[in-house]
Amino acid sequence: MLRLSRFKAYHIISRAMSIRPTFANESLFEPAAFIDGKWVKSAEEYFEVSDPATGEVIATLPDQGVNDVNHAIECASKAFASYKNVPHAKRAQLLRNLYNLMMENVEDLGKLITWENGKPLADAIGEVKYAASFFDWYAGEAVRIYGTTIPVGFTRNRAFTIRQPVGVCGIICPWNFPAAMITRKAGAALAAGCTVVIKPDAQTPLSALALAQLAAKAGFPPGTINVVLTLKRVKEIGLALCKSPLVSKISFTGSTAVGKILAEQSASTLKKLSLELGGNAPLIVFEDADIDQAVDQAIATKFRNLGQTCICANRLYVHRAVIDEFTEKIAAKIRKFKFGHGLQPDVTHGCLINTAAVAKVEAHVEDAIKRGATVVVKGGRMPELGDTFYFPTVLTNVDPEARLTKEETFGPLCAIIPFDSVEQVVEYANNTRFGLASYVFSKNIETIYTVAETLQSGMVSCNTGVFSECPIPFGGIKESGYGREGSLHGIEDYTNIKTIAIGNISRL
Ligand code: SIN
Repeated sequence: MLRLSRFKAYHIISRAMSIRPTFANESLFEPAAFIDGKWVKSAEEYFEVSDPATGEVIATLPDQGVNDVNHAIECASKAFASYKNVPHAKRAQLLRNLYNLMMENVEDLGKLITWENGKPLADAIGEVKYAASFFDWYAGEAVRIYGTTIPVGFTRNRAFTIRQPVGVCGIICPWNFPAAMITRKAGAALAAGCTVVIKPDAQTPLSALALAQLAAKAGFPPGTINVVLTLKRVKEIGLALCKSPLVSKISFTGSTAVGKILAEQSASTLKKLSLELGGNAPLIVFEDADIDQAVDQAIATKFRNLGQTCICANRLYVHRAVIDEFTEKIAAKIRKFKFGHGLQPDVTHGCLINTAAVAKVEAHVEDAIKRGATVVVKGGRMPELGDTFYFPTVLTNVDPEARLTKEETFGPLCAIIPFDSVEQVVEYANNTRFGLASYVFSKNIETIYTVAETLQSGMVSCNTGVFSECPIPFGGIKESGYGREGSLHGIEDYTNIKTIAIGNISRL
C-alpha cells in the first residue's frame, strides 16, 4: 500500500534570502551588451535581472532594440569576411583557449549560473564543464571539416566538395542552461568559420556576458562573437535576426511555439535553421528492469534542473507488475531532497525559474488529480523558502490522457502511469506531437532494441537517465524540431557543401 506523505515532510536548508556570491574574479561580467569587441552600456531603457530564489535584483542591463541588433549583425558580417579565412588550426586554438579560460573560471561561472538560474552550485559547475566541453570538442572538429572526392560520369570531368562556413549565425538561447546552450551552438559555428550574434534569455544573460569576455581574452577577433540584450523587444529582435539578409542561419533552443514563429519568419530569406524545441519525454520501466537502477536513473532525468530541461522524463510509464515497488522507492528518495538557495551547501535542489513555472506544475497536478491520480507525495509550494520553490509532487495511476501526457510540465511533477504490454506502452509513448528524448529500462536486450527502434524520438536512452554529452548528436523529430547539435554532426548545420567540378581534364 502506498503511503500519502504529509505536506511538510520535506527538507529545507534555510530560508533563501539575500545570498550574494563572492567571485575570485569580480569583473567576470560587465553589465553591458557586447558588440564588435566593445561593451555597450548606453540605451534608452534598461531591464533588471533577478535572483530567482529571492527576487533580488542582481544586475541592470541595457534593453536593446532593432537598431542595436542590426548593428551587431553588420559587425558580425564584417568580421565574417576575415574570420572565415582564419586557418582551421588557428580557430581550433582559439576554441581551446576559450575552453581553458572557462575551466580556469569554473567556480565563478558556476556561481553566476546559480545566481541567475537558481540551480544548485554543484549542478551549475557541472553545467560549466559541460558547456566548456563543446569548445574543446569543436576545437577538435575544426581541423576535420572534410569534403569528398566524387567519381563522376563525365569522363573528362573531376569533381570534389568543400565545406564552407554559412556566414553570420543568430543564436537564440534559453534560461535553463545559461552557458551550455550557447556553447553547444557557438562552438560549432566558430569552428566552422561563422561569426555569431547571441541573444540570451533576459532572465539569465550574465553567463553569456561572462563568456563574451572570456572569448575576447581567448583571442577571438572583434565582431566574431556579439551578445545583444533585451527583455521588452524579444519579438522585434528575433524578427530582425530572421529577416536580415546578412544572417545565414538561426539556431534556437526553446519552446515549440516560438520555434514555429522563427521558422515562419525565416522563410522570406530561406535561412538555415536548427530548432531544438520542446520535449515530452516518456520513460518506460518494463517488469524485468533493475528497479533500483530505474528509480535512480528516473530521478536523474526527471529532477535534473528540477525538471526544467527539454529532455527531462515527463511521463513515467511503469509496468503494472512493478508499479508499487517503483513508486514506493522513488517517493522515498524524493522525500529526502533538500531544498534551498542553490548557493547554500548541501542543497540538492533549488528553485524554479519563476512563478509561472510553479503555476504550470500546479495546473498539471490539479488536472491529473481530477482525472483520478493517486497522490503519493503531495509536495507543493514552499513559501518559507520563497515564491519559486516547489517540493516535488509524486502521483501514480495517472490517466494516460492527462494534460501532462500532452505537454511538458517543465517542473518537479513525477507522474507515474501504469501499462500492461509493450504494444500499449509504445502507443502511449508515441501519442504526442513531440519527439526529443525517450528512456527505456529493461534487462532484455530484445525489448531494449525493438522499443528503441520504434519510439518516435531523436534520442533514446536505455538503462540510464543521463546521456547528453558533447559527442552525442542532440536533437529531435516531429514538433521537437530539427538539426543536430554536438557530435560530429553538429558542425554540418554551420557549413554549406560546395561542389567544384573541373572539366576538360586530359589523360596522359
Ligand atoms: C535542453 O534542455 O535542451 C538541454 C539538455 C541537455 O543538453 O542535456
